[in-house]
Amino acid sequence: KKIKLLAEKSPLTYKVLNKCSKSKARKGVMMLRETKPVETPVFMPVGTQGTLKGVLVDQLKVDDMNCQIMLGNTYHLGLRPGTEILQKAGGLHNFMGWDRALLTDSGGFQMVSLLELAEITEEGVKFKSPFDGSESMLTPEESINIQNTIGADIIMQLDDVVKTTTTGPRVEEAMLRTIRWIDRCLEANNRNDDQSIFPIVQGGLNPELRKQCAEALTERNVRGYAVGGLSGGESKNDFWKIVSLSTDKLPADKPRYLMGVGFAADLVVCVALGIDMFDCVFPTRTARFGCALVRTGQLNLKHKTFEVDLSPIDDKCKCSTCKSYTRAFIHAISNDLMMCSLITIHNVSFQLQLMRDIREAIEKDEFPEFVKTFFDDLYPDTK
Ligand code: GUN
Ligand code: ZN
Repeated sequence: KKIKLLAEKSPLTYKVLNKCSKSKARKGVMMLRETKPVETPVFMPVGTQGTLKGVLVDQLKVDDMNCQIMLGNTYHLGLRPGTEILQKAGGLHNFMGWDRALLTDSGGFQMVSLLELAEITEEGVKFKSPFDGSESMLTPEESINIQNTIGADIIMQLDDVVKTTTTGPRVEEAMLRTIRWIDRCLEANNRNDDQSIFPIVQGGLNPELRKQCAEALTERNVRGYAVGGLSGGESKNDFWKIVSLSTDKLPADKPRYLMGVGFAADLVVCVALGIDMFDCVFPTRTARFGCALVRTGQLNLKHKTFEVDLSPIDDKCKCSTCKSYTRAFIHAISNDLMMCSLITIHNVSFQLQLMRDIREAIEKDEFPEFVKTFFDDLYPDTK
């Protein structure tokens, strides 16, 4: 079944619906495809290769889950299944059977973080194939070409990312190169009428570089923005400061996406700082190690204390796992593939429910009260 796009309309319109009166939090809606709007603030689960490991697309669409947008990775999808078959399938939506919104990351960040061997030059990111060891170059143009074939609704520019621990001239070089690369990406985009490229604010932990980058990117004609290069071990103080000054500089009428951030506490704080979109592998990756997310923190269900615990992961959770299974059951099957599926479903459901609660609180202008309750639950000893 081919999915029809609204080519005659803008492929991405964003509207702020409610603003918090005491913070920069806002509730909004992104119209991407004719099927479903994406309500923001939103958490986007990561389906690296076109699947959330162990979960069916139908399970992501049931009412209690209602996942509206998912992430894929250019680097992984470009290697396998590869662009030829994706082209034949008519894009990733069709190939994976997902008729809702998709976003793909540009690939460079994954190569640099996965392959120590990646080398960045002005031309692009040079890397060795993990399959046959051959050398290839991912240029901004090539990243966009692959993303055009994958066909996600939102695609990301290739950026030059440095670790937050990097200091000195390399941070500025990467920031300036990221600005040069957004122009090469915009120039290379063959599907600007149905795919939206987001530029990425870089600049490490240096406020001046971040401001300069955000200002330069704001001059580009794009439909949304991302903030990258964070959540890599920097102090919370630095992290919050950079997020906050980025949202101050970016246009208020476009969505702002904070890349790679997904701990519940970070979601709550960064929504207050004006972020609308998040993604992170943490909730799905940690599930595969037996770790379930709850409002009080995390439960490692492989731990012996859960052997005789006949309660659900969370008795207030409405996910299909909590409806039918106990902690003791999941503990007992922890060497079965089903553990991964059951906890992944719960963890994604947890993240999406948290975002629904956040949106509802903003709508009622009760977000400050929500933040207080959230942190009282998470850190009861400091109450
Ligand atoms: N994922 C998490 N952080 C980043 C980033 O800075 N750039 C890109 N492209 N992806 C990311
Ligand atoms: Zn659950």
